Amino acid sequence: MQRSLACQRPEPDPPRISLVRLARADADFVHALFRDAAVSGQFIDPTALETPVGARAFCSASPKLTGQHRFAVHAAVSGMQVGLGMVRDRTRSAGYATIGYALAPEVWCRGLGTELARRLCAVAFEPTSAVEVRASVKPTNTASRRVLEKLGFRFVGRRQRNGPSGPVEVQRFVLRRAEWPLVPHGAVRVVRWSARS
Ligand SMILES: CC(C)(COP(=O)(O)OP(=O)(O)OC[C@H]1O[C@@H](n2cnc3c(N)ncnc32)[C@H](O)[C@@H]1OP(=O)(O)O)[C@@H](O)C(=O)NCCC(=O)NCCS
Repeated sequence: MQRSLACQRPEPDPPRISLVRLARADADFVHALFRDAAVSGQFIDPTALETPVGARAFCSASPKLTGQHRFAVHAAVSGMQVGLGMVRDRTRSAGYATIGYALAPEVWCRGLGTELARRLCAVAFEPTSAVEVRASVKPTNTASRRVLEKLGFRFVGRRQRNGPSGPVEVQRFVLRRAEWPLVPHGAVRVVRWSARS
């Protein structure tokens, strides 16, 4: 895949979103987000988030138990919740981290998805020694593929993942640490996050 020059775009200044650790109070938003088929249809197994009980459990789960850091995404100006971001830190066991994200359809196509994914990469790279960040995308998810491409991720192959109704094909993308000079050190601020929590 050809690398996009767009990945050289600087971080918008000031940032248009902030990340705050996901909490039980975010469950209604997360549930509503995943009731929208345009969002849940892009995830391999969104079933847990499609019920109020599942969304509450997801939002209040400890990163120590899940191995995943989960963030509510807020619009910086209005403070309104607009999405969800996730970083699974597998640095100790496997040397890499994975990211996942979703935004409310009302805010799509304004560059926020790219800003969010960039922020999640910073969360994945900066407090850890991860050698790479990985993301998996359904082949039909053009917007997410484009987001990853803009950040310099490379397509590395396909694999089957288990979904609720059988195997699902995903495309795998990787961004290596050496390819992460995009955000000047210190330019990314993650609210209320600790590598140890
Ligand atoms: C993926 C997602 C976060 C992208 O958010 P976003 O705010 O729209 O992203 P951006 O505006 O930063 O960039 C989207 C890019 O995809 C492009 N795009 C969007 N839909 C497209 C389509 N159907 N065909 C081609 N390109 C498309 C946009 O033009 C833009 O590229 P550009 O900047 O070169 O013009 C959002 O679509 C989403 O939440 N989707 C549902 C959940 C999801 O897919 N999560 C990822 C699972 S891997």
